[in-house]
Amino acid sequence: MDYDYKNLMHLAKEASKKSYSPFSRFAVGAAVLAKSGKIYTGCNIENSSFGMTICAERCAIFKAVSEGEREIVAVAIYSPNADDCNPCGACRQVMYEFQDDEYGVDIITENMGSLITRKLEEYLPYGFKI
Ligand code: THU
Repeated sequence: MDYDYKNLMHLAKEASKKSYSPFSRFAVGAAVLAKSGKIYTGCNIENSSFGMTICAERCAIFKAVSEGEREIVAVAIYSPNADDCNPCGACRQVMYEFQDDEYGVDIITENMGSLITRKLEEYLPYGFKI
């Protein structure tokens, strides 16, 4: 997609600073580029009832969808605790629901200071959608 993914990663990093993760101490931030060109950020938010935790990626995607977006084209993911921080299975499925059918979704991670861009299709082949 015609967008500076370095900036998208910068926004994911900024979002990771807002992480509420006192239980895992594993902070994550995400920045979603919607087809409209708008960007939505999110962080992981944990809870004393552990199952209520939401990942950074779903937090950002749900913010986008709740603002009226239906198609996302890129998601940058960052954790200060891990290189090449990749999305969990649940988040892959949520990305699949809101992917741009023509373009797919670019997933951007950072590994030792360099960006890696992969397609959602690589993470979730034969995805399910009604
Ligand atoms: N986490 C995310 O935010 N995104 C992922 O894709 C993987 C996991 C969060 C959930 C939890 O707060 C912490 O990382 C440890 O699992």
